Amino acid sequence: MSVRSFIAFSLIGSAVASASLYWDGRVPQSMTESDLDSSLGPYLTVVKGSETASHYTSLLGTSQLPTPLWKNTISEQVISVTIDNSSIFIPGGGSPQSGFRRTDLIAQGNGSNSALDTIMEVGMSKFHFSLKRNEHLPLNYSHEYQLVYIEPTDGSHIFELQLGTPFNIPTASAPAADSTLLKIRNHALDLLFETPFTAGEWHNFAIRVDWNKLTLQVFYSTGNFELCPVTSVLSNPGLAAQGDFHLALLKLPLADPNETTTEQDDVVHFGIQEATTEGVFYSGVFVENVSK
Ligand SMILES: *[C@@H]1O[C@H](CO)[C@@H](O)[C@H](O)[C@H]1NC(C)=O
Ligand SMILES: *[C@@H]1O[C@H](CO)[C@@H](O)[C@H](O)[C@H]1NC(C)=O
Ligand SMILES: *[C@@H]1O[C@H](CO)[C@@H](O)[C@H](O)[C@H]1NC(C)=O
Ligand SMILES: *[C@@H]1O[C@H](CO)[C@@H](O)[C@H](O)[C@H]1NC(C)=O
Repeated sequence: MSVRSFIAFSLIGSAVASASLYWDGRVPQSMTESDLDSSLGPYLTVVKGSETASHYTSLLGTSQLPTPLWKNTISEQVISVTIDNSSIFIPGGGSPQSGFRRTDLIAQGNGSNSALDTIMEVGMSKFHFSLKRNEHLPLNYSHEYQLVYIEPTDGSHIFELQLGTPFNIPTASAPAADSTLLKIRNHALDLLFETPFTAGEWHNFAIRVDWNKLTLQVFYSTGNFELCPVTSVLSNPGLAAQGDFHLALLKLPLADPNETTTEQDDVVHFGIQEATTEGVFYSGVFVENVSK
């Protein structure tokens, strides 16, 4: 345990002792954007468009304050994640995901995302993340966004943080009434918790996953308020496999009425995207080993 975290732990009860951390995605001040380009550090950065990782993801040094929740424990950099019209990911051996625009940061340990999954997704673990709006690069709430999720190899999500208007065929003529709400959904995509993505403040989440009993519980606060449970312990039907922990700016398309029904259904490869540059800020990302 480092001196810094030891001191912090003895001062504030809600701080997280480093001994209980499975993985820490809070970016130290020493990390650089060239580290991002080489996928050095807590994140694998290969899921992105054709430009370098640091074209889409910036580390903001001390120029912007991270969530105040952990400021007595750690000095971290805000992570700015953006997408633009070049943000089309081409999976190895696959075809370009032209329907999506996406930049993903995937949790890794010792350079391996899958090895980390088998370490941190056992017993009970708590996934922490904080988000803030990027007022200069706003999102388009006519679209669906998936911002944080654990994705097993079958492409399902153990849980996800979703925003915007859910992808639909045909496309609704106006953004959904709840499109500006941050929504936590379970594996079956049932809504567990929602809250407005208000400007100018950090939104702090923690999702406690019980990998044996297959349950979830959601915790939330804003700014420096302590995290509070906002759901009871809920069963998460279908949660079975471990998966990669993603922070992302994943923008789904709108269904294009001029495309065939089959194409419209293929949300990964077809649909309408504007060529806009958009962004969101992250901080306070880590995974804790919890006993209750
Ligand atoms: C956005 O990217 C798509 C796919 O590469 C391309 O067809 C389209 O022309 C681009 N739009 C603009 C405005 O650059
Ligand atoms: C990284 O390697 C160290 C030393 O082998 C090991 O103790 C640790 O569990 C590994 N961490 C991850 C996340 O793989
Ligand atoms: C948002 O998306 C809608 C639907 O595609 C589009 O009509 C609108 O122009 C977009 N707004 C911006 C600012 O790009
Ligand atoms: C569909 O095709 C019509 C006719 O070519 C065109 O005017 C319209 O802009 C197209 N709509 C979209 C969403 O591309």
